[in-house]
Amino acid sequence: MDGKQSASVVTGIVTEAAERLEREAGIRPGLAVIIVGDDPASHAYVGAKGRMAKQCGFNSMQYTLPEATTQDQLESLVAKLNADPAVHGILVQLPLPRHLNSEPVIQMILPEKDVDGLNVVNAGKLAAGDLESGLISCTPAGAMILVKNIHGKDLSGLNAVVIGRSNLFGKPMGLLLLAANATVTMAHSRTKDLASICRQADILVAAVGRPLMVKADWLKPGATVIDVGINRVDAPEKGEGKTRLVGDVDFEACADVAGAITPVPGGVGPMTIAMLMANTVVAAYRSLG
Ligand code: GUN
Repeated sequence: MDGKQSASVVTGIVTEAAERLEREAGIRPGLAVIIVGDDPASHAYVGAKGRMAKQCGFNSMQYTLPEATTQDQLESLVAKLNADPAVHGILVQLPLPRHLNSEPVIQMILPEKDVDGLNVVNAGKLAAGDLESGLISCTPAGAMILVKNIHGKDLSGLNAVVIGRSNLFGKPMGLLLLAANATVTMAHSRTKDLASICRQADILVAAVGRPLMVKADWLKPGATVIDVGINRVDAPEKGEGKTRLVGDVDFEACADVAGAITPVPGGVGPMTIAMLMANTVVAAYRSLG
């Protein structure tokens, strides 16, 4: 499954919607991304988000704060962005440095600007079955588009297994699959006999952060496999000190058994960024009232 192609369909629609909003209402969608510290992977993701925001015609604002930023300083910045009418979406890149507490920061983002869908108002709407009026976490929303490209809108009768139960991905992914009528199993690090549970899955979604954990003999033949893991591992075959990105799924081995499978990179990642743009343009339209 080519996430880049599906993502470009989404960003094409977003770009047109942004042009129209600016033409007709004089509003340019504004996305503010906050990053604290100098984790190289996080900087790479944030850079990609900013570039795509510009490509979609948005006003892209990046706030790069030093590692030594205090909780108060971070919360003051979020308060300022909450109050700024030119900012329609606010994203605080996670994880934050260990001395900072992400939860109060996330919860103070106004729900209407919470383009990550992590605020309890947005998470609660999804849990209550309201998929329309809030904002949904970008990675599960993007993964769901890939699932629906294969299976259609109605997943009745299909078994879905999600490995991972994070607020950012596993929980909302399970809820979206459930809303589409799949029979959903939530597996996680304490689950026993994970392989045999996975073998029941018509749709298997892996988001655990363990490189190449899902093996070919964990799959039901023909299953749709969505790999949300992004792990950097040593790649001595590329030369000394070199690394490469791999997912939570052993792609090479699983590709022969799966009916459809997302690669890493180029699968779910581009969809996450595309859905962030979609959430931002939606937030900008809603700001019209
Ligand atoms: N870190 C990794 N993925 C994400 C994401 O989707 N949103 C935020 N805020 N941080 C992340």
